[in-house]
Amino acid sequence: ALAQAVTKIGLILPMTGPFASTGRQIEAAAKLYIAQKGATIAGRTIELVVKDDTGTPDITRRIAQELIVNDKVAFLTGFGLTPLAFAVAPLATQSKTPMIVMAAATSAITEQSPFIVRTSFTLPQATQPMADWASENGVKKVISLVTDYGPGLDAEKAFKERFTKAGGELVAELRVPLRNPDFSPFLQRVADAKPDALFVFVPSGVGAQLVKQFVERGLDKAGVRLIGPGDVTDDDILNDMGDVVLGVVTTHHYSAAHPSPENRAFVQAFRAANPNMRPNFMAVGGYDGMHLAYEAIRKTNGGTDGTALMEAMKGMSFVSPRGPVTIEARTRDITQNIYVRKVERVDGQLYNVEFKTYEAVPDPIKGR
Ligand code: DHB
Repeated sequence: ALAQAVTKIGLILPMTGPFASTGRQIEAAAKLYIAQKGATIAGRTIELVVKDDTGTPDITRRIAQELIVNDKVAFLTGFGLTPLAFAVAPLATQSKTPMIVMAAATSAITEQSPFIVRTSFTLPQATQPMADWASENGVKKVISLVTDYGPGLDAEKAFKERFTKAGGELVAELRVPLRNPDFSPFLQRVADAKPDALFVFVPSGVGAQLVKQFVERGLDKAGVRLIGPGDVTDDDILNDMGDVVLGVVTTHHYSAAHPSPENRAFVQAFRAANPNMRPNFMAVGGYDGMHLAYEAIRKTNGGTDGTALMEAMKGMSFVSPRGPVTIEARTRDITQNIYVRKVERVDGQLYNVEFKTYEAVPDPIKGR
């Protein structure tokens, strides 16, 4: 018998280094999707090629180049951090290879190439509802503390604009480095100023260290509330943070506790395949990114022309484990619900329990 034609999907992730949890989550979710749907679509056999970029932009770019030239991949997927997505965007444009951004979340990423689509989120999208919730719930004086690069600066700006417009006061804007952050000196300044709340953005995986130092400085006892987009109470690490995070309110597009049949099925299957893991928002970005690739190949009837695959993904709507989503045809970015959540114990485990929904929120910078 003839061997079936193979369609390769490149998946570039930080599998080692400080952002390895992002790689581990996305790889597990992408493999789960393929295991559930089968490796054949429109007569093509799908082959996932996973590569570790260690979170270093030069390595991401070199790997992407090899995947394009040697492996002739139909898609480049993954992109665990903003600088890694920026590094590859020119290659996607030159080679007309669709690039599915599953993790990185700076608003401007999708503007770096017409061959980029995104299944994660943007920081302005997740942050505006936090600013609204804070100003509607008695928070008046805030200090912001963000990681000093694309997504942190997006979060800081979105919070500042929205919160001060509603009459709130942002008394200091603190920024910590992406590499080897030490939060202590910044948190000491927060302890001295005693704001109503500390608004925080840190990338996935870093929240545990921030919370530990928050408690060491006595900020919880001083009554300073911790607020921010939900990256800080990431499901990958939330359960190990302890009771100090009970009651922390964040806004985000995904919680493992999202009460829908689609999410219950996703979480159950993810845990069955990965016994010591709980899926986080990175996992759902990877799962939905694979869905986009699969549905695009189906729509092109197995064709792998990059422009045709891009057209196939534009405007796609489906029900994700996170809720209903749309890939906007104009912006190629994702419109989705943003949930307000509070950390609670459910069956003995810590979860972000959703209690309010902002429906169908586009990236506010680019709109629909
Ligand atoms: C980015 C990385 C993260 O881990 C995250 O939670 C949000 C954004 C980024 O680099 O874009």
